[in-house]
Amino acid sequence: MAIRLEKIQEPQPITASSGQVDLRSVTKRYGNGDLVLDNINLSIAESEFVSIIGPSGCGKSTLLKLVAGLTRLSSGKVRVAGVEPVRARKVMSFMFQDATLLPWRTVQGNVELSTELHGMKKTERATIAKEMLSLVGLSHVAHQFPRQLSGGMKMRVSIARALSTHPTVLLMDEPFAALDEMTRNRLNEELLRLRAESRWTGLFVTHSVAEAVFLSDRIIVLAAQPGRLAYDLPIHFTVSRNAELRLRDEFEEAVIDVSKKLRSVMN
Ligand SMILES: Nc1ncnc2c1ncn2[C@@H]1O[C@H](COP(=O)(O)OP(=O)(O)O)[C@@H](O)[C@H]1O
Ligand SMILES: [Mg+2]
Repeated sequence: MAIRLEKIQEPQPITASSGQVDLRSVTKRYGNGDLVLDNINLSIAESEFVSIIGPSGCGKSTLLKLVAGLTRLSSGKVRVAGVEPVRARKVMSFMFQDATLLPWRTVQGNVELSTELHGMKKTERATIAKEMLSLVGLSHVAHQFPRQLSGGMKMRVSIARALSTHPTVLLMDEPFAALDEMTRNRLNEELLRLRAESRWTGLFVTHSVAEAVFLSDRIIVLAAQPGRLAYDLPIHFTVSRNAELRLRDEFEEAVIDVSKKLRSVMN
């Protein structure tokens, strides 16, 4: 049996022991609207890769924004590397579905954007950007402009930019949702490789169960209205993760198991 599925336990009390990303009794509503997230307790360990799946509108993006410090929580507590999100911004990178590249900047100029915002010197920025572009296999297009790139390449630039500040926490909101399946699979494999090299903590939102299973140490299933934790599912395989994993029975079994859990919160 490749995967252990456990119904989540009752919320744990707030303790001093904490992960790299910690949410304690978090609730969120926008203005006077309905409760969007209700009593979220979640602790993500250093170097852990956690995916969040759940029905549309259940609050996945909101949860990521709370961790990023891009929106305020209504009650509870969020900590990133032990401090409030707004104070941890420098150790976090955010990737969205849209690669959000500046059309008037070259590929390298786009990668340099985040180190520039961190106040890094020009020569140092250029060195890191070149290193990151090589890491994602894009050195040959460093001087091209975004319009000259395919969707997959644009997203690779976005990854290079996100990693160029050497984040300890990488937040990704459906980064590959707009790509075709083959490109998405290739980028998933790349993400695994990049992660093995630098061990950031990953929080990843996706609609694809297969993608979540392929990438994650744990999958969190959210139920909707209000958004709440339904399942916390550890994902283990007997072999190391690479493209061949997708062809194995244990992978398929895991996908089916997680899909069933997801379907159960859709009803
Ligand atoms: N800035 C906002 N103001 C008001 N309501 C919002 C805002 N952002 C999201 N919402 C609402 O919060 C709920 C959760 O949204 P979101 O976090 O984007 O869900 P998901 O990413 O799971 O699709 C939805 O009902 C959405 O309409
Ligand atoms: Mg969303």
